[in-house]
Amino acid sequence: MTVKDIFENMDYGSAPESAGDALAWITDQGARFGLFIDGEFTAPGDTFETTNPATGEVLADITQATADDVAAAVAAARAAQPEWEAIGGPARARFLYALARLLQKHSRLFAVLETLDNGKPIREARDVDIALAHRHFYYHAGCAQLEETQAQGRVAQGVCGQIIPWNFPLLMLAWKVAPALAMGNTVVLKPAEWTSLTALLFADICRQAGLPKGVVNIVTGDGAVGEMIVTADVDKIAFTGSTEVGRKIRQATAGSGKSLTLELGGKSPYIVFEDADLDSAVEGLVDAIWFNGGQVCCAGSRLLVQEGIADRFYAKLRARMDKLRVGNPLDKSIDVGAIVHPEQLARIRAMVEASGGDMHQTAGVPEGCYYAPTLITDLSNADPLMQEEIFGPVLVATTFRTPSEAIEIANNTRYGLAATVWSENINVALDVAPRLAAGVVWVNGTNMFDAAAPFGGIRESGFGREGGPEGLRAYSKPAEKGPLVTEIAAFEGDSAEPQPVDRTAKHYIGGKQARPDGGYARNIYDASGALIGQSPIGNRKDIRNAVEAARGAKGWSAATAHNRAQVIYFLAENLSARAGELAKTIDRMTGQDTGADEVEVAVNRLFHYAAWSDKFAGDARAVPMRGLAMALREPVGVIGAIAPNEFPLLGLVSVMAPAIAMGNRTVIVASEAYPLITQDLTQILETSDVPAGAVNLITGPHAELAATLADHADVDALWSFGAAALAGDIERRAAGNLKRTWVNHGHGRDWFGPDGQSRNFLEEATEVKTVWVPYGA
Ligand code: NAI
Repeated sequence: MTVKDIFENMDYGSAPESAGDALAWITDQGARFGLFIDGEFTAPGDTFETTNPATGEVLADITQATADDVAAAVAAARAAQPEWEAIGGPARARFLYALARLLQKHSRLFAVLETLDNGKPIREARDVDIALAHRHFYYHAGCAQLEETQAQGRVAQGVCGQIIPWNFPLLMLAWKVAPALAMGNTVVLKPAEWTSLTALLFADICRQAGLPKGVVNIVTGDGAVGEMIVTADVDKIAFTGSTEVGRKIRQATAGSGKSLTLELGGKSPYIVFEDADLDSAVEGLVDAIWFNGGQVCCAGSRLLVQEGIADRFYAKLRARMDKLRVGNPLDKSIDVGAIVHPEQLARIRAMVEASGGDMHQTAGVPEGCYYAPTLITDLSNADPLMQEEIFGPVLVATTFRTPSEAIEIANNTRYGLAATVWSENINVALDVAPRLAAGVVWVNGTNMFDAAAPFGGIRESGFGREGGPEGLRAYSKPAEKGPLVTEIAAFEGDSAEPQPVDRTAKHYIGGKQARPDGGYARNIYDASGALIGQSPIGNRKDIRNAVEAARGAKGWSAATAHNRAQVIYFLAENLSARAGELAKTIDRMTGQDTGADEVEVAVNRLFHYAAWSDKFAGDARAVPMRGLAMALREPVGVIGAIAPNEFPLLGLVSVMAPAIAMGNRTVIVASEAYPLITQDLTQILETSDVPAGAVNLITGPHAELAATLADHADVDALWSFGAAALAGDIERRAAGNLKRTWVNHGHGRDWFGPDGQSRNFLEEATEVKTVWVPYGA
């Protein structure tokens, strides 16, 4: 085809990028790669092939790491960590800047290598993957520089095990390595087995930057190597990949005290309202579902179109699909490249073939590891294709009539990673955005990312954020460890008659006193063995009733922060009014004389969090594009909490107050040793303005009730300040719906000190939703 021909028929001419330099780099390394441990490449061991999916040609042999290799990498990281942290943020910033510059300098090599190994269009590797990767290092160099002011009172986690997928090999590495290094951690990173090359090139860059040995270690291999990292002597695991593997990692790390963040799958809705700019929305879809061949965790893979415009919109979309160019990823004019691996191609095929619906596909797709961009309309919401992640260039669609119906369909998924809204009406767009169950919402745009803007999901899309201060926080921990949790046994006695008054407590569920389902109560004695009352023994049914009540109390989450503050101030006043009586009860229960102090601090604590109610709302992030990313704090939902055994009033209030101040509804299991406190609290709550269901109080055996809460699919987060022994079981069970857990692994808190009332409570009581809106010229 001549240039003249091209001008005449406006057909495109190919513009291939040369693979020469990248292939030469592979050859220079002998096309056989060892691991990068303690600043050196090891000799290759048992290897497997990595191939170019676009051509099927073998690119190189990659080492399958052994258990000894993983142990050596972890040992190197462990040895390097103290010094790396000790050199201080500004010194670490210099290395991060150097890495950013080297990435920039070699960006073409990285881009081509990525395209060769993964099959993504070179245009994307060049303009998105590599560009965002060095932006990530620059941003986090700044974070390290400002460490003293930005991360006060926090220190590095230590050694981080990082396991990443194949869809954005270098970018996911950057998302994980940059914040970890910025905070003074060292890392052992495993790239996905299909795409290890850019991680190995990055290892080379680390050497060039003079990064101290052992700070970054790269071990290659399959899932078995991932499992070894998870169980190794690391302090934190950061994982991006499938929900299935994420769940296994949650179970494998349960009870170990390892910190964990999981960035998992999604089935993100892409909602087009009838007043949207339809051409822009169609173009947006090209980014949403055909970017990286739809192999994107936050791909806008579920199209919801308002009924009145559906036919017109589908017609425009099909016309656009017919113009998509699918083929050689190294061609700069290509829109959609190869699928990462024949196995993934087979997975996509199998899913689509098993389903019905009206299908339209882009024609002219080459033979080989390619899949045609596909649109499937007329699917019911229950269709597996509407619910399961396909992870390929397949868009499934349905229609809706009203904004409420759109929200209902959008949220009808086990996932909650991202969502996109298209409407020219600001009222519609900004009304819908907060009602979407997703960690990221894009308005009139899609698939926008930046190092300053937190990214991550809710529900089974995982927990934790990457990017921004939130991402950094996940790579640090409080500098001070709290005191060890001491076991507290309830007093025993044998007197039969309650003295001096009958204190027979009940549960407090849905704003009412409720008898225990099992009908059993336990005698509670004071230090002298005298019977002081009876406390219900809660069971599964009581927990379920309480969760149902909490679930129903949605109004509390929707109330304004100002309103919540007023309600909590009033609660504090009511508590204060009964201070004397409460103090006496506490002293009698605990056999100590801390009651008066407990009440005073508990009242202050309520005032403290009431004050925070309208001051922890999030902020705007400066992102390098036309728009604003708002990192908004939302309530987590229903929080279950096991209150500490010690300090029955102060402990319970310290847990309840931040949770409800941030708009959560709660199911709180009171101190097992001193449960009678719920009787007084119930009376105080009944005379307060806390709406029914926002606070539910249960008493009974912590282990059994914690297990029920951890199993419950309608509990969004579970906190435990009870015995350390509860941690493992809670975390293991929480893998079911991947609820967030915040549990004590041995160290508790000084409930009278600053640790009993810290920002951590507000962070744990909220989830960040990043809403991207157009803003500015
Ligand atoms: P995967 O979740 O199995 O692999 C991700 C990473 O985890 C890889 O490095 C892998 O070696 C490692 N891994 C596998 N098993 C492990 C284990 N038991 N312990 C520790 N590490 C382990 O994802 P895979 O098989 O590559 O893709 C399967 C499906 O997962 C895709 O079709 C897609 O639906 C989804 N996926 C989602 C991603 C996301 O970003 N959310 C990324 C990749 C895949």
